[in-house]
Amino acid sequence: MQSMIKREDLNIASAVSDAGQLMGGQQLPPGEEVVQFENTLRPRSLDEYIGQQDIKTNLTISLEAAKKRGESLDHVLLHGPAGLGKTTLAFIVASEMKGEAKITSGPALERQGDLASILTNLQEGDVLFIDEIHRLRPPVEEVLYSAMEDYCIDIMLGKGPSARSVRLNLPRFTLIGATTKMSLLSSPLRDRFGNVFKFAFYETEDITQIITRSARILDFPIEEDGARRLAECSRQTPRIANRLLRRVRDFAQYHDESEITRAIVNKALVALGVDELGLDPMDRTILDTLISKFNGGPVGLNTISSALSEEEQTLEDIYEPYLIQLGLLERTPRGRLVTERAFHHMGFDFPAHRRQSSFID
Ligand SMILES: Nc1ncnc2c1ncn2[C@@H]1O[C@H](COP(=O)(O)OP(=O)(O)OP(=O)(O)O)[C@@H](O)[C@H]1O
Ligand SMILES: [Mg+2]
Repeated sequence: MQSMIKREDLNIASAVSDAGQLMGGQQLPPGEEVVQFENTLRPRSLDEYIGQQDIKTNLTISLEAAKKRGESLDHVLLHGPAGLGKTTLAFIVASEMKGEAKITSGPALERQGDLASILTNLQEGDVLFIDEIHRLRPPVEEVLYSAMEDYCIDIMLGKGPSARSVRLNLPRFTLIGATTKMSLLSSPLRDRFGNVFKFAFYETEDITQIITRSARILDFPIEEDGARRLAECSRQTPRIANRLLRRVRDFAQYHDESEITRAIVNKALVALGVDELGLDPMDRTILDTLISKFNGGPVGLNTISSALSEEEQTLEDIYEPYLIQLGLLERTPRGRLVTERAFHHMGFDFPAHRRQSSFID
């Protein structure tokens, strides 16, 4: 369920939460190799962590201030779409705090006792990282309230009429919660975090740097122009950038090339079915289905899910954020709506009725 790790083991422990992630429409096998690959490329310090400048600046101030006061860092909530570096940053904070990090996730904490046993084993200055914190069960979440605020928990000893509640004091620890679904977090929980950081999609310039850094670690040269081209198709997401880099490296090696150039990137992207906006075949199928079967919407998520035989959760978490980010799709109260830009990108005419009455919901 949870694991106790030392700082030097952080890269290995991180594997647990990242196995089996999705990438660009393809379910990657949660194999050791994929996990290992992500860990090799995971930055270990704030200096190595590229982009997200606002978060880094604020975090550095909070970290340094806490160190000067000799106190633990205020609890930290990291939220934003998948693959943007939340887990990576949580591990960096743990390593900066020089405490131990205990790692668990919302669904892994089934009973109050699971959380209580982790909390009572913490030491002063330790970091407790709860991934997918929006999936905590309400009774477990309640234990967290007093732990976060007053550094104590109440546990019940015994059963029936002889049961009594005992208050246990906890050491000063830092909770780091990560979530892709901020809206599902209850406000009592949200309000107990002193530091709340929202992850934004990365600038192309930052993704280019991440790709260049990764290529250096993989010891396979990439031209600056090639890195930029790849960055443009990486959905502004480091995880996708690294995985595309891996595929392009394979492509280059297969063709006996010793360096990844822009031309190789272009050929590899065509072979992978990734278009100039970074849309993969599944993104295009979504847009195509919405346009050709539903006139571009609005259409409900469950209808889309049935039409595509894809889980609602996957559509919502993996595909939609990027389509929305690119201005190709809108979430409206009446359902999903394909934008004019998407009609043109997919080679369709924008329907006249939509142009006349700009949609008001
Ligand atoms: N700022 C960054 N600089 C360099 N590489 C990064 C950065 N952020 C993330 N990465 C790379 O992207 C990969 C995915 O990051 P991470 O696992 O931290 O994402 P996440 O936000 O926790 O995703 P999820 O929500 O799916 O758990 C990491 O293996 C790391 O190599
Ligand atoms: Mg993560």
